[in-house]
Amino acid sequence: MTGSLPFSGIRACVFDAYGTLFDFAGAASACVDVLGDKAGPLTVLWRDKQLQYSWLRGLQGRYVPFWQVTGDALDYALETLGLPQDGVLRDRLMNLYRTLGTFPDVPDVLRRLKQAGFVTAILSNGSPDMLRDAVEGAGLDKLLDHVLSVEEVRSFKPDARVYQLAVTRLGVPAEAIAFQSSNAWDAHAASAFGMRVAWCNRYGQRRERLPGAPEHEIRSLAELPALLGAA
Ligand code: LAC
Repeated sequence: MTGSLPFSGIRACVFDAYGTLFDFAGAASACVDVLGDKAGPLTVLWRDKQLQYSWLRGLQGRYVPFWQVTGDALDYALETLGLPQDGVLRDRLMNLYRTLGTFPDVPDVLRRLKQAGFVTAILSNGSPDMLRDAVEGAGLDKLLDHVLSVEEVRSFKPDARVYQLAVTRLGVPAEAIAFQSSNAWDAHAASAFGMRVAWCNRYGQRRERLPGAPEHEIRSLAELPALLGAA
């Protein structure tokens, strides 16, 4: 890289959890013995419904923990795809969702950012118990200074109060926070709020036509330390 650093003046690196740090496709993939070729469609529909329910509940002011939203979305997806609804498969998938693995780039990137002196945090829709199990299960607890759940504001992204929670709890202004999400809508919302954003476009999606403009588009978090001068 030449010239000035693209991401200057950053003090804290804040990450979305599901789809950015944790690979939610892992739950259905681990049940391919039962799901067969429906593992892929289940991952997509489960995730889409989970997000829709979070947005709708946020708009309605009818918050419930993301764990319930995730279970409701799974029930919808299992029924839609004609999969067994006897509770056994549901329990198995939900248990797997609690301890999802990380994408391979994640631990090393967090380690490098911490070594370089950045504050590191998760800001997620996940309920505190889900996030604790995922973070501990993946061995990330020593690499994250804060694990922030929307539970504190009882709403979901992209409610501006969620992004404000990171500013308040970290004590770092929005313009000194680099926010990373693989969810383009989340990246746009954090940018519109005033954070500095790297959209981690893991899924090769098109850009959203929404308020906000992520400063960077990267394909994996492995590109982030160089953007921050921490390579
Ligand atoms: C989260 C979802 C949006 O972790 O991925 O907040």
